[in-house]
Amino acid sequence: MSHSETALSFSGKSDLDLLFDFLRFRSVSTKPDHAPEMRACADWVAALLRHGGFQAEVAETGGHPAVLGRGPEAPGKPTVLVYGHYDVQPEEPVNLWTSPPFEPAIRNKRVFARGATDNKGQILAHILGAIHLLREEGSLPVNLIFLIEGEEEVGSTNLDDFIRARRSELRCDVIAISDTGMIAEGYPTLTQSLRGIAAMEVIVRGPATDLHSGIFGGAVMNPATALVRMLAGLHDAKGRIAVPGFYDDVTKPDAAEREALAALPVSESDYQRETGVLLLSGEEGFSSMERIGIRPTAEINGLTSGYQGEGTKTVLPSTASAKLTFRLVPNQKPDRALNLVEIHLQNLLPPGVEMEIIRGHGGMPYTLDLKSPWCGAALRALEATFGQKPALMREGGSIPIVQTFRDLLGSDTLLLGLAAPDCKAHAPDENFPVENFEAGIRLHQNLLRELAG
Ligand code: BES
Ligand code: ZN
Repeated sequence: MSHSETALSFSGKSDLDLLFDFLRFRSVSTKPDHAPEMRACADWVAALLRHGGFQAEVAETGGHPAVLGRGPEAPGKPTVLVYGHYDVQPEEPVNLWTSPPFEPAIRNKRVFARGATDNKGQILAHILGAIHLLREEGSLPVNLIFLIEGEEEVGSTNLDDFIRARRSELRCDVIAISDTGMIAEGYPTLTQSLRGIAAMEVIVRGPATDLHSGIFGGAVMNPATALVRMLAGLHDAKGRIAVPGFYDDVTKPDAAEREALAALPVSESDYQRETGVLLLSGEEGFSSMERIGIRPTAEINGLTSGYQGEGTKTVLPSTASAKLTFRLVPNQKPDRALNLVEIHLQNLLPPGVEMEIIRGHGGMPYTLDLKSPWCGAALRALEATFGQKPALMREGGSIPIVQTFRDLLGSDTLLLGLAAPDCKAHAPDENFPVENFEAGIRLHQNLLRELAG
């Protein structure tokens, strides 16, 4: 029997058994040959919802399918949409995992697997919270919609159109998402803002084929040299992005905002410990919290050229390429950022090579309106679940669909993160504390009760 067939039985399984079943799907959205596994995973989510008393559909999007679930009607009550994603980041480099990425294992009271935190553990906590509540009480305190997509990790490129097409079905008063972090272990956190993102790939081409680096080296511009020179020109010596115009739209952080960030229960040494670096570094004049939460960045995510195998090879490569992403803060727009970067790179291109730019996904930044009445409900639900006052935090990561929800559905999103600070999302040994999974189930129930009131 295949994994998806075994997994499709739900009776008698504990919440943790179900999490393990979910984590065994290799639902890596960026790899085209994983499409069947993506669909099997979506089928599993829909079947679980149906088993729990929900209506559920595996809906086509033009890309990987999304799962749309709906609880029994609660007339006169608000409609809450819970969003999450069943796709995960690639598992590579596999050799750096302590246990295999798609064979969930528990160590130190944490579940280790790709997707454990981002986002299977967190979204499953919401699903199970709802299923248990419905089973225990026979009804739900709100009209509940689940939208669980399969393309978040590749920029949610087909979800905008899907939301546009199904707008009337998705109408809701408020959206809740657990796909962010907790500021410190056990510390409830409401995320106040997310950064936007803009992705591009830069390809530099030189000689028609790879060349002998002795026979031709010195007479031909090496594309790898050209590319690294250009990339070095993305920042100045003070760690600022050196692309002319890049900061034009960036609002100056106000003093109150900086004070609030400084007061959060996280220190520079926490960042140093979590990352394992010798020295933290970034834009001069800003703390790590500010560099991540309220400043834009330029990052190289991948860099490829020439010989990467064992030993040496004296080659002058014909091409070099880099994958870049830029994190954006309020007022910045992905298209404008990429236009400026493209002009800058073109200006830095040395003679003798050519450049091609392939634009990737883009997503707008998001800031929560703290005056929204739903915020109070979220803060009360977090406090009831974790037994202490929640922190408000500004996250550096992006969830592009959140601003789209506001634009297309007119609804605000509450970001109630359950990820531990050292969850290792996107990295080897990604993990989710069992305690956070269980808290997430209770959080969902507290949240629905608070939103209903
Ligand atoms: N869960 C993350 C987003 C996140 C992580 C927000 C930590 C805040 C704190 C999400 O799955 C993610 O990784 N998003 C991508 C979006 C991109 C691929 C368009 C990201 O931020 O890189
Ligand atoms: Zn992610």
